[in-house]
Amino acid sequence: MNYISLTDLTPAEVQDLVERARHLKLHPITTDLQGKVIGLLFMNPSLRTLASFQAGVAQLGGNSFVIQPGTGSWALEFEDGAVMDGTAVEHVREAIPVLSRYCDILGIRNFAKQTSLAADLADAEMRRFADLSTKPIINMESASDHPCQALADWMTLDELGIPADGKFVLSWAWHPKPLPYAVPAAALRMAAQRGMEVVVHCPEGFDLPAPLTSAPNVRTSHERAEAMAGAHVLYCKSWCRPDLYGQPDAHGAATAHLRDDWCVDEPWFATAQPDAKFMHCLPVRRNVKVTDQVLDGPRSVVIQQAENRLHVQKSVLLKLAESSK
Ligand code: CP
Repeated sequence: MNYISLTDLTPAEVQDLVERARHLKLHPITTDLQGKVIGLLFMNPSLRTLASFQAGVAQLGGNSFVIQPGTGSWALEFEDGAVMDGTAVEHVREAIPVLSRYCDILGIRNFAKQTSLAADLADAEMRRFADLSTKPIINMESASDHPCQALADWMTLDELGIPADGKFVLSWAWHPKPLPYAVPAAALRMAAQRGMEVVVHCPEGFDLPAPLTSAPNVRTSHERAEAMAGAHVLYCKSWCRPDLYGQPDAHGAATAHLRDDWCVDEPWFATAQPDAKFMHCLPVRRNVKVTDQVLDGPRSVVIQQAENRLHVQKSVLLKLAESSK
């Protein structure tokens, strides 16, 4: 068994993981992973994922190691058939099977390459890694998914008492760089799977690619007051304009004019529920994607979201450890 996408789970399986995470939040210290080693392979940077996995494994009585290719370990090659005469010294075809023989569960972070939209949306690389590994793997963020964040967000919505059929607005915000679809895809699929009314709010031209918005309870709106009307949650994230995927310079030039109007601010909530919440996976650029007023105000639940990463990941680790016994 692997944990690659929340959509691989039934609603009952998600609820079981969240229920166990709630228990672990109250009773954090156990010996359930005693004698177990969790490998953590980070192709890309992290603050929360790295720290929360290591802390969680320690709280469960296990041990972990961290590999960051190119930073203290060999730079990795991903392409099959590559002639490896550049900076990459080792291929994932060896690295992943080797690492999986040193651990009981392997977490892997591997962001979108942002060269081919189709390839990144297919998110095939993480499933290929699962085939290469002899142990269960956990997706710690891939090209178009972030299931640990999605599970923490589901738990946070439950804790906040947000109705299962409440309104969830996923809003684009301006960002100086074109960002991949992993978090927005995971967030909107999570909310749709939870049964919420999901509205993707973005400027014209930024509609998320069709495969991501196919659920019947997901729609897109370019009109802020309409999108936010009655919303229980505004989930903020930036993403690349699909027709400029893989063209960062053109993207920067084409989106610069959106900067001032697409930074989340208190007036955005004018038509929302009075106590509507602000969510973001972090890290977030203050006063670029969201104002200090919103981020530091009572709507913001970003720290609770980040804390819940710890609890849900422990729940996932225990489920995978039990499944591989
Ligand atoms: N939200 C999240 O995954 O944070 P990091 O990139 O810091 O791990």
